[in-house]
Amino acid sequence: MNFIDLIEKKKQGKNHTKEEIKYISDSICNGSVSDAQISAWLMAVCFNGMSIQETADLTEVLAFSGDKVDLGEIKGCVIDKHSTGGVGDKVTITLIPLLAASGISVVKIADKGIAMAAGTIDKLKSIPNFKTSYNDIAIINQVKNIGAIIASQTENMAPSEKKLYSLRSTTDTANSKELIASSILSKKIASGVNTIFVDVKYGAGTFMKTPEEAVSLSNLIVDISKRLNLSVTAVVSSMEEPLGRAIGNSIEVIEAIEFLKGNINDGDLAELTYFFASLILVKAGLFNDCENAKKYLKEIINSGKALEKFAEILSAQGADPAILNSYDKFELPSFKVECASKKDGFVQYINAKSIAMALNTLGGTSDNNFSEIDYSVGIYLNKKSGEFVKKGETLYTIYSNDEEKTKIAQKYCDEAFLINDSKPANKNLVYKIIGIEDEDV
Ligand code: URA
Repeated sequence: MNFIDLIEKKKQGKNHTKEEIKYISDSICNGSVSDAQISAWLMAVCFNGMSIQETADLTEVLAFSGDKVDLGEIKGCVIDKHSTGGVGDKVTITLIPLLAASGISVVKIADKGIAMAAGTIDKLKSIPNFKTSYNDIAIINQVKNIGAIIASQTENMAPSEKKLYSLRSTTDTANSKELIASSILSKKIASGVNTIFVDVKYGAGTFMKTPEEAVSLSNLIVDISKRLNLSVTAVVSSMEEPLGRAIGNSIEVIEAIEFLKGNINDGDLAELTYFFASLILVKAGLFNDCENAKKYLKEIINSGKALEKFAEILSAQGADPAILNSYDKFELPSFKVECASKKDGFVQYINAKSIAMALNTLGGTSDNNFSEIDYSVGIYLNKKSGEFVKKGETLYTIYSNDEEKTKIAQKYCDEAFLINDSKPANKNLVYKIIGIEDEDV
């Protein structure tokens, strides 16, 4: 077999056999192909797609390109929840301590950002000394001791997936459904978890632009999971607008901490966190219905147990939990600019893509593999959709270290906001659940 012939085959839109996919993965792992060749193959997949069988084969081959973590010592459901990526999406940081404090075991394998979506690992790196690199034994021990870990892929966890992932932002192949599905599921298989939830986003701030496209990706994810005997639930949710008010690494972690302290009780961030948490508690058999699960989860927040669990996770992963009460321990930006609304009215819409571009301009995300991320910068949405703003009142705040970049970011943010006289109708955050029986929800 020859890698160039396989690029040609995919260029012609033909299907790979499992042996060919294995050859591709092995070539990536043993370093016998260049980044240029891998990128050419990624682009051919992006243009011509893959059949469901090919995508299932790719998922399995990527998953077993390294070792699988043996979580057999941990009894019951071991959960991971993964998002296809969005703007301001800090639900991993709000959800994992909440679940662990509710008695659910969580092995959360998180990523750096891909394309416009900032990654959970980048957000957590804004916490001084927070360690994300672990080996299998350390993962198992931490979950046995405190019920949860949030870590990056280990050295030998789906290594060929890791290589593909690292090339997809710069080659503009991040939005291929087959590559997204195989990327997410292969990591979950390799991490050993037995119950998986995928938040499949649609809208301006993510890869799938419409609910229909996100449903199609969800169907693919669930179909592959069935072929591979995985328990996966896909939730299609909106990423038309940024999630929460904070967009940027350290300010997103701070917003998540405020949620865990019980200071954020409504709005989209609280809604989506409780939605996933209650769905998971029902799936794990702790509750019969989401309503009762949600009441219990609110008690977990209000009693301080979720925050305590996050403190335990911070300590276990090398960070000082004192940061929970002293936000000045985060790396701070040199200045902030409060940007005023130019008119009275209701905020109708905030375009997530424009906000992502603003954050990228400030240096808060990287769309290549070379530039460093500035954890301190960000945008805070003082007003969200449905809220009234007066002319001259602060609409959003930019946290920055560079005046020129701030001016460009401000242009993107101004473009993002649509304001007019009428109060907009409430928008549904969750569009559809796929892969779980309706009566469970
Ligand atoms: N998250 C992943 O792990 N992979 C993708 O392709 C997109 C989001």
